[in-house]
Amino acid sequence: MVRIRVLSEPIEKIKTEALALFLFEDGKPAAAQKAIDKKLGGRISTLIRKKKFIPKKSSTRVIETLGRLEADTVLLVGLGKKKDFTLEILRRASAKAATTLRRLGAGSFSLSVEEFADKKQNEEAMARAASEGIILSLYRYTEYLGKKPDNDAGDIRYVAFAQKKSAVSSVKSAVAAAQKICRAVFLARDLQNHPANKATPSFIAEKARSICREVGMRCRVLNKNEIERLKMGAFLSVAQGSAQPPKFIVMEHMKGKKNEKPVVFVGKGLTFDSGGISIKPSQNMDEMKFDMSGAATVIGAMYAIGLLKLKKNVVGLVAATENMPGGKAVKPGDIVRAMSGKTIEVLNTDAEGRLVLADALHYAKKYKPSVVIDLATLTGSCLVALGTFASGLLGNDQKLMDTLQKAGERTGERCWPLPLWDEYGELIKSKVADLKNIGGRYGGTITAAAFLKEFTDYPWAHLDIAGTAFSPKPQSSYVPAGGAGFGVRQLVDFLMHR
Ligand code: BES
Ligand code: ZN
Ligand code: ZN
Repeated sequence: MVRIRVLSEPIEKIKTEALALFLFEDGKPAAAQKAIDKKLGGRISTLIRKKKFIPKKSSTRVIETLGRLEADTVLLVGLGKKKDFTLEILRRASAKAATTLRRLGAGSFSLSVEEFADKKQNEEAMARAASEGIILSLYRYTEYLGKKPDNDAGDIRYVAFAQKKSAVSSVKSAVAAAQKICRAVFLARDLQNHPANKATPSFIAEKARSICREVGMRCRVLNKNEIERLKMGAFLSVAQGSAQPPKFIVMEHMKGKKNEKPVVFVGKGLTFDSGGISIKPSQNMDEMKFDMSGAATVIGAMYAIGLLKLKKNVVGLVAATENMPGGKAVKPGDIVRAMSGKTIEVLNTDAEGRLVLADALHYAKKYKPSVVIDLATLTGSCLVALGTFASGLLGNDQKLMDTLQKAGERTGERCWPLPLWDEYGELIKSKVADLKNIGGRYGGTITAAAFLKEFTDYPWAHLDIAGTAFSPKPQSSYVPAGGAGFGVRQLVDFLMHR
């Protein structure tokens, strides 16, 4: 991961190979810009006056300094209109700077973001957002590559923030926090991006165990026998068609007050979803290695919580299995009994996420949780409803949902509400069992959530991350193709603002 330093020197004095300058389309030039413009003989102001560079959102312009500055290159990055400025715009602009300079072969660069602080957002918030954008944009999954991708000249080894003395120490800790959170996002992305023949339920459980050991968190992995003893019949019905044994992972971070009820995160961990006997079409089926993204987000969030040593009680639960059409697989029409005692008619074996979550959500009751949040790549319908820029948000507690939505706005990991009225619950009633696992053609994201609701008795929210968790193409300047690690920052922010 790129090293980041915070220095109390003016930006034009810092010795790095390049320098990134952020500019608004309107408004006065910042101090850093004026100093550099002067050294470059007014080159920047001339470009802007002649409209050769218009600082629109995410537009860039490279200037070679030809020995007039310590840095070889100055990169101008547009921020758009001042009144529209948000932390997300800074995150994306910083990411754009990092990836553009990496492509140009710069090994290091400096930047200054303190001038964007105001009464609402201080210097720390600016440095955190810029660090996140830079670090997250430079992520690459190279595990199986013999050589690096051609479009990258090298690696950015370090980045320096120019910061006035008074804020150096607080900005340093903001950057340190961002680094921890991004490490956790990288963990989640790696877990997602591993092929399903590597990232099996056993592999995910071992990863969870090792990060728990690293941060001093309790971890328990329940094997198939133990899952059977708990009578998790819904979870087990999904696992029974696969040669890989299922794992139920419990991570406990109990660093809050003794009697404080915990927050519980629950992740869908389908390390591969073939659909089972209701097998999926072969087109894009490879993407179903990402069906453990909820689990990756939960494990990533627990890692961040451990690294940040948050003084809270938080539990992470992951139900990990494959969904395969083996000879022992569950069949359409089979009726299974969930741990809660409810019976479920399995009419489509591809609606397996709700089956594994049913038992995980029931298991969560033993913690007497203050709130439970589950994350799952649950329905293709969610992509139809919201596309790829927002997770679906459903639940039984408006206040919890509002808090999650705000955390989404702040982190740029947004979610959007869908209704969960009783009428939708009618659609998953079976004639021969308590429930059936599909709700018909329409409102698929909602009927799936209505099913989950049957297994909750606490304040609960559900994030359907089918559209946000992964993508075959980059989602933004700091979210490359593949696993996004979506939701890790949202969950951590949610905890910090509770
Ligand atoms: N894992 C899929 C949902 C999914 C689809 C996630 C596309 C990401 C991208 C889930 O298990 C599934 O197959 N859901 C079915 C439910 C249906 C059978 C009721 C779906 O959405 O089609
Ligand atoms: Zn499925
Ligand atoms: Zn699935």
